[in-house]
Amino acid sequence: LIGQALKNEFVIPEWRVFCSTIEKIYVEAKSNTDGKVANYIPQLSRYRPNYWGVSVCTVDGQRYSIGDTNVPFCLQSCSKALTYAIACTEKGADHVHKYVGQEPSGRSFNELSLDHNKKPHNPMINAGGILTTAMIEPHLKPADRFDFIMNEYQRMAGGDFIGFSNATYLSEKDTADRNFALSYYMRENKCFPEGASLQETLELYFQLCSIEVTVDSGAVMAATLANGGICPTTGDAILDNDAARNTLSLMHSCGMYDYSGQFAFKIGLPAKSGVGGGILLVVPNVCGIMTWSPPLDELGNSCRGLQFCEGLVSNFNFHNY
Ligand code: DON
Repeated sequence: LIGQALKNEFVIPEWRVFCSTIEKIYVEAKSNTDGKVANYIPQLSRYRPNYWGVSVCTVDGQRYSIGDTNVPFCLQSCSKALTYAIACTEKGADHVHKYVGQEPSGRSFNELSLDHNKKPHNPMINAGGILTTAMIEPHLKPADRFDFIMNEYQRMAGGDFIGFSNATYLSEKDTADRNFALSYYMRENKCFPEGASLQETLELYFQLCSIEVTVDSGAVMAATLANGGICPTTGDAILDNDAARNTLSLMHSCGMYDYSGQFAFKIGLPAKSGVGGGILLVVPNVCGIMTWSPPLDELGNSCRGLQFCEGLVSNFNFHNY
């Protein structure tokens, strides 16, 4: 599969050719010093700006990693794609999209706006991510809801590192006026599922954003999405195939906020960014990739991560896979 994606059709498809090309692209992006580490969630500002790691996991379980590959970092909005996939598996897309749209918002990730149906535009922005969170196991107590989702994340990561930063959770809960305002606005417009607690939903949402991965474990999660919801390192079927497909569709159209259109045009692959500096990138039916570098551009996407993605599709025929 990797060989087929290589631009030069005559190259014998060798894993080492792929890995040396990934290393070349990684090194080129390492010299990028653009961007600023997020600080609106105080704990995030403590990430070192020179952290830079990349990991690849193919749908048949081959692994390649380079740089800061075992430093834990918070998923932040990368979690929205995973939570949406779980919600669609649990409830079905028809139920989820009664509450959340499927359109790019064309605005910032935390914009105080609803679509013409008075729904959040999509599940990849804060408003949609909060509502998607509200749909998962609402009958369970908060501790059991968190445990359930944490377990699903751990299955998607094939048992690789999944952690939780309580400090980030507490610091986000303490500085979340915008998300509270968003949630009250949504409650005023009757967006929440019947019986959902605004406070409990927001606390669970902050907790999911504070779940930690490494690029190694994040790459396995991305590969699970690339592999139709089946973890390539364990064979565990976590997500419905439809849920995985729907997630890739909305990552492709909405995953990079108001850079999503340009990302789809330049890179053409499903991706989800997070203010922790992660980018979850999927080459459907080929591999999952996690990049992590904290400095962000003004839209909230990792500068080195974006440069890596552009380098990837200029070296491999992955565009619009
Ligand atoms: O809700 C927030 O603002 C953060 N927990 C997540 C936002 C985020 O990651 C946006 N991504 N670029």
